[in-house]
Amino acid sequence: MIKIIPAILATTEEEYKDKLLELEKENCLKFDWVQIDFMDNKFVQNQSITPEIIAKYPTQFQIEAQLMVEYPENWVDELVKIPVRRIVFPVEDTSGLRERISHIKNHGIKVGLSINPETDLETVEPYVGEIDIILVMSVNPGFGGQQFQPQAIEKVKEIKQKNWPITIEVDGGINKDVLESLEKAGADSVVIGSHLPEILHGH
Ligand code: DX5
Repeated sequence: MIKIIPAILATTEEEYKDKLLELEKENCLKFDWVQIDFMDNKFVQNQSITPEIIAKYPTQFQIEAQLMVEYPENWVDELVKIPVRRIVFPVEDTSGLRERISHIKNHGIKVGLSINPETDLETVEPYVGEIDIILVMSVNPGFGGQQFQPQAIEKVKEIKQKNWPITIEVDGGINKDVLESLEKAGADSVVIGSHLPEILHGH
């Protein structure tokens, strides 16, 4: 059974608080995990809430932090304090990926690399033995509510064929139909934002 991870993309503290409460009210704790998007208005053209804000609202969710930021290393120490359970940052971030991966793992936190729609799988290959998860982006990062890009399904199939020892997660524009296609393709988990009500209530 594919794992559903609700997403929180919030640009203000108020929005974060409301979205977190909404997920808890909607009994989404049954999914155990939540993915929180962090953006610096540099790597993506959007600015999110900071780790300090998240730390103000303790939750039972296990938190996966998706860093869409130019310098992920500057965010790790704050995220550790919350604590988050997993940190995913972009493979397109070329400065010192290996150091970043070990810096995160040295804090006892799981680590993953996200890969944008236009980025080839080959970029991730050198790091597969060191990461726990690959986050296949099926939209260009930075905003919720975008259209799913179907080439992500092919990417999942390609990863499956490589038998990499990592979890395959997909994020972006995923609705009920897409979820079924991704499950068939072999994805282990999906991050769902705007289509969560449809997935929860069928409408
Ligand atoms: C993109 C974000 C979104 C979000 C999911 O940077 O990562 O993909 O998590 O939002 P929806 O499901 O609305 O695309």
